[in-house]
Amino acid sequence: MAEASSFYITTPIFYVNDVPHIGHAYTEVAADVLARWHRQAGDDTWMLTGTDEHGQKILRTATANGVTPQEWADKLVADAWIPLLETVDIANDDFIRTTDARHEANVQKFLQKLYDDGHIYTGEYEGYYCVGCEEYKQESDLVAGTGEYEGQQVCAIHSKPVELLHEKNYFFRTSAFAERLLALYEERPDFVQPESARNEVLGWVRSGLADLSISRSTFDWGVKVPWDETHVVYVWFDALLNYITAVGYGQDDDEFSRRWPAQHIVGKDILRFHAVIWPAMLMAAGLEVPKGVFGHGWLLVGGEKMSKSKLTGIAPEQITSTFGSDAFRYYFMRAIAFGQDGSFSWEDLAARYQAELANGFGNLASRVVAMINRYCDGVVPRQGALEAADIEIGAVERRATDASWQAIDRIAIHEAIGAAWELVDALNGYLTAEEPWALAKDPERRDRLETVLATAYRGLGTLAVLLSPVLPKATAKLWTALGAPGTVQDARVDLAYEAELGERVAPLEALFPRVEVAE
Ligand code: ME8
Ligand code: MG
Repeated sequence: MAEASSFYITTPIFYVNDVPHIGHAYTEVAADVLARWHRQAGDDTWMLTGTDEHGQKILRTATANGVTPQEWADKLVADAWIPLLETVDIANDDFIRTTDARHEANVQKFLQKLYDDGHIYTGEYEGYYCVGCEEYKQESDLVAGTGEYEGQQVCAIHSKPVELLHEKNYFFRTSAFAERLLALYEERPDFVQPESARNEVLGWVRSGLADLSISRSTFDWGVKVPWDETHVVYVWFDALLNYITAVGYGQDDDEFSRRWPAQHIVGKDILRFHAVIWPAMLMAAGLEVPKGVFGHGWLLVGGEKMSKSKLTGIAPEQITSTFGSDAFRYYFMRAIAFGQDGSFSWEDLAARYQAELANGFGNLASRVVAMINRYCDGVVPRQGALEAADIEIGAVERRATDASWQAIDRIAIHEAIGAAWELVDALNGYLTAEEPWALAKDPERRDRLETVLATAYRGLGTLAVLLSPVLPKATAKLWTALGAPGTVQDARVDLAYEAELGERVAPLEALFPRVEVAE
């Protein structure tokens, strides 16, 4: 038997300086949809998410709130970051915190190895530092400030002044890996996706790589540098290593080789760290580079990136409390081409909820289940002689299944949902054309009625399986109403047209009930 292929997917680990907004939920959902799709295809799937808790940004926030950074992180993780997973229905396999012992010990192990192998040296650095980004900035990364920062140079992402730092640090010889990085991007054109992100990365590396300062000595909230305890590890160097410390690097070789390498899903704000620095760190350690890095777009507010530090965030519960987690997942994955920026709008969300989820999919499911209850006493009918329209539905099922899977393989989530939706539209058109409610009035046409309902029933089974990664709650309800065996999550992508689904249907409540949107 062929070994199930390994699929390891990650989100960034988020800073716990504040509570999550819909931008963080967006990344979580994207990674979760991909993970669920792969799990359903039988891949040996592992999804990792977590929190980034060291560094100056967290230290300052904690201090301003009169608590220790550890207390602050513990509180934010328990009250906000773990609950986010429930809010948007994430089925992650692990949650790593950079304050976990399993992480800290192996960050030190990794760093010591690089030091012993000559990839690290002592140097001095003076430069502009953005605490929001936790990153040294070049002059070209800065823009003129406005409002209270008029006349100052500010970070282009955070719109806040940068700080001039001068420190003696340890440096990682990133520059030594420029040639190997360029060869990597050349040999594996999909290593960085989408294309726009790849081009940006190529531009950075071609214009030359500077070595990276990887320690700080003016504060102590971090992992201690193993050979010099007066320094802590630079927060980004520490954070990136979560992707391997979570799957056994340094302590469980079997687990590590089973999982690594990962596909990383990140926002484009942190592309440089993931597509340049991280693979260089792995090359230095003699480890495999990631499977790929996908830099998705930003959710914008007034044309700017929605952000914790600018207080422009919308809390995910504001949306899920009215529309539910399925609608949240569907909306963001469908309305924004994955890889591009997008703006959130209540009007657009409400319109798509009504047209696509309630009227398109929900109503289709209710009508078919209700007709089998009404006309067949709940017994799932069997297909008789097939007509062209019935055969066409079978063909759309296959096409939708294949096309959505191929889109997932390319990390084109919106296309995968679009492909599955062709089946929603085809089934709605089929019912309108075949009019089972009219067939039901004519006892002579009983066979035709049963074939039409059986065809629609099977199509719904396929839809439940196809859409379960995006709409886990609604498809689970539908699966139960269809009387199908097991759970929809465990059903294989090709089950619906290979096997009969169930014997009897059960009543189905509205999958997407009417919502009252507060004015
Ligand atoms: O950068 N639109 O953490 P962070 C879309 N700790 N996605 C958004 C977004 C928006 N407006 N705002 C945030 C860090 N995100 C580091 C990462 S990884 C080793 C360390 C999402 O809390 C998006 O995924 O600032 C972005 O890359 C991430 O949150 C940044 O989260
Ligand atoms: Mg950020």
